[in-house]
Amino acid sequence: MPNEPTNPTIPSGSFPVSFREASLEYKHELAAWLASDTWPNFTNSKPSYDVAIGWVERGVFHGDGRKTFWIVRDRHHKVGLIQLYDLNDSTAMFDLRINTQYRGMGIGRQAVAFLTSYVFTTFRRVTRIEANTRVDNVAMQKVLLASGYVKEAHYRAGWHYEDDPSRWIDAVAYAILRYDWMHNLTSPVPWELGQAAVDK
Ligand SMILES: CC(C)(COP(=O)(O)OP(=O)(O)OC[C@H]1O[C@@H](n2cnc3c(N)ncnc32)[C@H](O)[C@@H]1OP(=O)(O)O)[C@@H](O)C(=O)NCCC(=O)NCCS
Repeated sequence: MPNEPTNPTIPSGSFPVSFREASLEYKHELAAWLASDTWPNFTNSKPSYDVAIGWVERGVFHGDGRKTFWIVRDRHHKVGLIQLYDLNDSTAMFDLRINTQYRGMGIGRQAVAFLTSYVFTTFRRVTRIEANTRVDNVAMQKVLLASGYVKEAHYRAGWHYEDDPSRWIDAVAYAILRYDWMHNLTSPVPWELGQAAVDK
């Protein structure tokens, strides 16, 4: 049974998608899908099938504190993937991939609305959900901001992608609090020295 988003945000010009948990039983399908496209902003942006099946078999997508969901159009057509991890911790993390021909159509925003609701309603221990990306991944940051996430960190030269550290680029971290999500708030980050943390 697909899990429909409980609070779908469908931007104008987009189309509705649904979300279905990816079963380890179909690991070859998952590996073939990962190898079928290019994933900018991931360390290995063009994995081969052999690399991808290795990830699946090593437990990158399933296992303790991890869940993976297909993003599906018209009930069957896979257009993206959500990876959730650290679900047993207080801060859960996620990665998101949308197929090339479906990017920029509002699917990312629907996916983040779904996963945020799913994690907070399913994993009671999780108080924060966080996502990290490269500073030049503007699309992902727009999705996060539109979904109520707040920028919490800017890591200078924090994205290692080549041997030469002088070429490493900045990384950024965004998060949403359970408290904010429940009350439809956006708690600001207290950047000033000595300023109180979240006041509630
Ligand atoms: C990043 C990603 C998940 C975003 O999902 P998406 O479905 O494409 O995003 P949406 O269509 O919901 O929104 C994208 C927003 O960014 C904008 N955008 C897209 N590409 C952009 C670019 N290169 N520069 C500036 N803005 C851009 C869109 O216009 C849209 O803005 P809007 O909300 O003001 O209309 C998707 O593009 C993707 O899978 N990219 C490759 C892998 C990746 O980067 N994953 C994230 C790693 S953490």
